[in-house]
Amino acid sequence: MIILDQISKNFPGANRPAVDRMSLRVNQGNICVFVGPSGCGKTTILRMVNRLEEPDSGRISIDGKDIQDVNPDHLRRSIGYVIQQIGLLPHRTIEQNVSLVPELLGWSREKTRQRVMDLLTMVGLEPDEVSLKYPHQLSGGQMQRVGVARAMAADPPIMLMDEPFGAVDPIVRIRLQDEFLRLQQQFKKTICFVTHDINEAIKMGDYLVIMNQGRLVQTGTPIDVLTSPADKFVLDLLGDDRGVKILDLTRSETLMEPVNESDGFMHNGCRIQAIQPVKIALEIMMQKNADQVGVYRGDELVGMLAWNSIKEHISRISGGVRS
Ligand SMILES: Nc1ncnc2c1ncn2[C@@H]1O[C@H](COP(=O)(O)OP(=O)(O)O)[C@@H](O)[C@H]1O
Ligand SMILES: [Mg+2]
Repeated sequence: MIILDQISKNFPGANRPAVDRMSLRVNQGNICVFVGPSGCGKTTILRMVNRLEEPDSGRISIDGKDIQDVNPDHLRRSIGYVIQQIGLLPHRTIEQNVSLVPELLGWSREKTRQRVMDLLTMVGLEPDEVSLKYPHQLSGGQMQRVGVARAMAADPPIMLMDEPFGAVDPIVRIRLQDEFLRLQQQFKKTICFVTHDINEAIKMGDYLVIMNQGRLVQTGTPIDVLTSPADKFVLDLLGDDRGVKILDLTRSETLMEPVNESDGFMHNGCRIQAIQPVKIALEIMMQKNADQVGVYRGDELVGMLAWNSIKEHISRISGGVRS
């Protein structure tokens, strides 16, 4: 668990703090996403967690230990760090790049080599194809994968990811996000993830930290933030399609009603699984020109989801800013 306690950072000559009295907790095994416009202090926070910057005031602790008391080199070896673009050493091969931390840790050549091959495979690269290449010989998406592999090389419990998928095109980006979420299900790292893209934040985050001008504006799960934005800034950040985003995160079973006898006739072919999002149910209804769908768990009909229930739900939550 990472705890920030009243962290502030001023850079010389700036007219406001880069980070202003931020307090928050990142739970073990969670992805905590820091999201907000450029210049709001996201990168500075990550850099303070691995002591590339020191705060002017406040404390940061990891698993109960103040990081001021940890040797910065040791600290950084226990934290994987992925940054946008660069980061790979241009004159070293991919294998050498991914081996950096294991070598620092004194792993044997054989163990390191095996680990590198496993990691490259894990992030979706073909080790035989890329390990002897140099960074400039890879595509943007491949380089990002190498960046992730390198950060995970020594199996650090914590990862800091600063716009890790920012430099690739939208399609590759979605694939990298999906693959990373799959890896995370397996490895359950504690992750601080920075993005300025609210859609990426909602998709990747167990927990969101919304920032503006160095200050924390709101924290909460994606659905919490979507359903009760703290102020106009958050509302604007969430975008005009906030309602659609909510329906994408709401399981069909949460809005369904009990089945009654006659329904058997009416949802002809119109069915959805209970855990699928309401947004999909809506799409099915539109395609089939129906006003309700049967909600199933496996083959069992467990409820009905009606167009009207969805409409009511939207009007309940679209009231705007939390009072
Ligand atoms: N090394 C630095 N020296 C001076 N100002 C900096 C430095 N690093 C960041 N800043 C300033 O601190 C603020 C926060 O920057 P940053 O943390 O990089 O924001 P973000 O990652 O959210 O875009 C910005 O106003 C930026 O100009
Ligand atoms: Mg940044």
